Amino acid sequence: MLVTGKELLQDAHKNNYAVGAFNVNNMEIVQAIIEAAEETNSPVILQASQGGLKYAGIEYIAELGKLAANKAKVPVVLHLDHGTDFDQVMLCIRHGFTSVMIDGSKHELKENINITKKIIEVAHAVGVSVEAELGKIGGTEDNITVDERDATFTDPEEAKLFVEETDVDSLAIAVGTAHGVYKGEPKIDFDRIRTIKGLLNMPLVLHGSSGVPADSIERAVAAGINKINIDTDLRIAFTQAIKDFNKKNPDNIDPRKLLGPAKEAMKEVIKEKMNLFGSAGRA
Ligand code: G3H
Ligand code: ZN
Repeated sequence: MLVTGKELLQDAHKNNYAVGAFNVNNMEIVQAIIEAAEETNSPVILQASQGGLKYAGIEYIAELGKLAANKAKVPVVLHLDHGTDFDQVMLCIRHGFTSVMIDGSKHELKENINITKKIIEVAHAVGVSVEAELGKIGGTEDNITVDERDATFTDPEEAKLFVEETDVDSLAIAVGTAHGVYKGEPKIDFDRIRTIKGLLNMPLVLHGSSGVPADSIERAVAAGINKINIDTDLRIAFTQAIKDFNKKNPDNIDPRKLLGPAKEAMKEVIKEKMNLFGSAGRA
């Protein structure tokens, strides 16, 4: 069933677990995520970045997402990941997304507050949940790159002010993770997560979570993270399975034989994440 982000994340917040938010770009990825969620009895968030929407077309992603959610035995959110402007967010709301992210993190605090408030006024009026971001998460997501030197951790007091001013439903915080493949092991500031959780008492979001060791994920969830974004780990599983298949079957010309194992490989990774995040069994 299709549900709002707020509904899903409030339960995660109350019961101290995290819901996985996995990036979708095509039908096989949507199916891998939904099958994993059903097999683990887990609530789940299907999210599309602006790059993903450009690649597949918003109509395809929206209809695939809604179809999958309506057929699913578990609660599913259809979410816009890293929306950067008002028009993009409105387009997603018009296409039936039940949750949107407005990422104003590259702006100064006041400007980020203003952009977020404007989105919330419209989104909340039509029952759509909103995620915002404060602080700068390093790495590359689609065509947005934040250099390591420019990455800044979220300030807890600023976060409190941000939430009071905007009434946002969930907040993405910068605490040491980065988008894409890590060069070394990420150093996560767990105390900062705990401090922000204590001040805000609301669902918190961890971006750039691929490649983060399992024990760090567990500690982040225990500290107060309720939504965990995963993209890169899924890309790796999918493309590696395709490479392996092609190596073993160089004469294959059937896309179904190629994409079937890729979907299965991705599904296994997603199931592992759902067990790790504590969302398994929570649907
Ligand atoms: O918004 C999407 C995520 O933050 C994905 O990050 O590709 O490092 O898993 P990742
Ligand atoms: Zn992200």
